[in-house]
Amino acid sequence: MSFISRSGKALQDIIIDNISTAVLMVDHKLSILYINAAGEMMLDISSKRAVGQSLRHIINVSDAFFNRLETTYSNNHPYSEHELSVGLFSGKELTIDYSVTPIMLPGLSSQLLLEFTSIDRHLRIAHEENLLAQHQATRSLIRGMAHEIKNPLGGLRGAAQLLENELPEPSLKEYTDIIIGEADRLRNLVDRMIGPNNLPKPRLINVHEVIERVRQLVSAEVDNAINLKRDYDPSLPLIIADPDQLIQAILNITRNAILALNDHGTISFRTRPRRQYTIGSHVYRLVLEIQIIDDGPGIAEDLIENIFYPMISGRPDGSGIGLSISQGLINQHKGLIECQSEPGNTVFTILLPLENGLENINGDTQ
Ligand SMILES: Nc1ncnc2c1ncn2[C@@H]1O[C@H](COP(=O)(O)OP(=O)(O)O)[C@@H](O)[C@H]1O
Ligand SMILES: [Mg+2]
Repeated sequence: MSFISRSGKALQDIIIDNISTAVLMVDHKLSILYINAAGEMMLDISSKRAVGQSLRHIINVSDAFFNRLETTYSNNHPYSEHELSVGLFSGKELTIDYSVTPIMLPGLSSQLLLEFTSIDRHLRIAHEENLLAQHQATRSLIRGMAHEIKNPLGGLRGAAQLLENELPEPSLKEYTDIIIGEADRLRNLVDRMIGPNNLPKPRLINVHEVIERVRQLVSAEVDNAINLKRDYDPSLPLIIADPDQLIQAILNITRNAILALNDHGTISFRTRPRRQYTIGSHVYRLVLEIQIIDDGPGIAEDLIENIFYPMISGRPDGSGIGLSISQGLINQHKGLIECQSEPGNTVFTILLPLENGLENINGDTQ
């Protein structure tokens, strides 16, 4: 008995569109007959463009790979191999494990079923799990430390105030003022290190409005020598999130880019949907990707691993708190911020799951 969903799709199609392995079918000329959603994602190509094209025009791999596919048509032996380097025409490189199964259909020439699993994806997931665990550990450490500092600090400040009232000589007030002033400064610093302690106040928002707000805020701060570009995907659905927290998170990243650009260069705000995307150990059906890209000098290699930790700054006058706050805010939305940088191209990527997105509001849980 076959299952047909409300959207009219057969169960097999739903499964094949939602598995994370790329599945392709090619004919004897290596022309693509079919590619599933994970395949479209992995190879950076839509099914519409891929079908009918030769696999040779879509991936750049060693000749040995294609030769072996061709021999498989004559000997019909299935096989699998590990760690094949694949170049895509978008410039992206990936490493995959793959298997090939010849399929004989009655009355048709035989076809090959290809299954690609990206190993980079596994490496990425392990890396992200690590990052999330580290951020959580750092945050609890800071929370604990902040508590231990603020309590005695309150006592110190209170005592200085009492002392001030008892001073025999008004000129001595200068010293109690210093104690009170420095206690306040320390308290402020600790508060900023903990970051905004409020729970997110989520509502249904358009992420482009959030980015536009950031552009508006920073365009008042920079002169015309910095170009603020938009590259939005208008098909992005609304998201349930706290707009003020997202603005703060994106603003911190953007202000760093402005400082790095030192008055000339370009900052691009780019949005894209990502399907079947993994953040930490969760696979989300749809994830919003927001990238803040600048063409400044980049982040030094020995700094980049640590920039999301508080108090880590590459600038003499920096507090090192901005990115740790951004990461905390995005983590509160079950998302993650990643960074890749080389001179001339620094990319901060915010990934936000659409877990409580529109689909759930409409009661459609598919
Ligand atoms: N777009 C960027 N280009 C170059 N360096 C950057 C960029 N973004 C962040 N950094 C580096 O990361 C460091 C940490 O940033 P942040 O946490 O905001 O602290 P702060 O801005 O106070 O130094 C910065 O000091 C800078 O060295
Ligand atoms: Mg900063």
